[in-house]
Amino acid sequence: MQEFRHQEHRIYLGDALEVLAEKILDESIDLIFVDPPYNIGKNFNGFKDKWRTDEEYLNWCYSWIDLCLKKLKPTGSIYIMTSTQFMPYFDIYLRGKIKILSRIVWAYDSSGVQAKKYYGSMYEPILFGVKNPKNYTFNSDKILVEAKTGATRKLIDYRKPIPKVYSSQKVPGNVWNFVRVRYKMNEYEEHPTQKPVALLERIIKASSNPGDVILDPFSGTFTTSYVAKLLNRKSIGIEINEDYVKIGLRRLKMIESSLKNNKLKKFVKQKSTVITPSLFGETDG
Ligand SMILES: C[S@@+](CC[C@H](N)C(=O)[O-])C[C@H]1O[C@@H](n2cnc3c(N)ncnc32)[C@H](O)[C@@H]1O
Repeated sequence: MQEFRHQEHRIYLGDALEVLAEKILDESIDLIFVDPPYNIGKNFNGFKDKWRTDEEYLNWCYSWIDLCLKKLKPTGSIYIMTSTQFMPYFDIYLRGKIKILSRIVWAYDSSGVQAKKYYGSMYEPILFGVKNPKNYTFNSDKILVEAKTGATRKLIDYRKPIPKVYSSQKVPGNVWNFVRVRYKMNEYEEHPTQKPVALLERIIKASSNPGDVILDPFSGTFTTSYVAKLLNRKSIGIEINEDYVKIGLRRLKMIESSLKNNKLKKFVKQKSTVITPSLFGETDG
């Protein structure tokens, strides 16, 4: 295990279960975003995302779910992803432990090869839950989207003593349309399942405040930590693969401070593009 610290951000190169158990204080995290391997055979730089049996995968997941919940503050929130086929198991497992407030569908179109003999998968499920439904952060005013009425001009509410234009904004529902990160996009990194900045922007703005601590135990390209930093939150990211940790160190601008005394010195790739949250809205819906 290796630890990199800079300002309010921490990156761990190591196994999520080990780091969670040994390095993260109980009830210290405000928001957890978990995007684990999905057990569908993706290749994460040599690590094959496939367990021997479904049961083995689920038992492994249940161990990190329990650890995550232990690390979450009593007022904390958690967002958990996995493949469509395993989400029902997560849902049932979590129902006994936290209050699930939303079952979100992240929907996207895909230009890739599509299934011909069944309906191809065009969404990924996200569970949103909290420890205490009476006391948790939800900044609905920070994530408003356009309320589409279909009308070409503004609708007036004549029921009011003084007629008023209807609000043209609303809190998003549970179907989210964000484009997937593709090769030509500025934010693209070399990773098979990188999550879009816009997706994390919505989650972090809604479910945390500036200064809060955000944890992502399977960080991949460190999208969570990257957006957390842009939005003035603190971050802790864990990733088992060294090449992906290098991407994280670069995205968080932790390179100089981190590379003085460690073996990642060979890191050469430089990329200066900064993706600014709020520039990336939903594609429609
Ligand atoms: C679905 S990806 C996460 C993608 C990430 N959300 C992003 O935006 O780039 C899952 C990641 O978990 C990492 N991983 C797999 N097993 C792990 C473990 N035991 N501990 C920590 N990371 C692990 C993989 O290397 C992979 O990068």
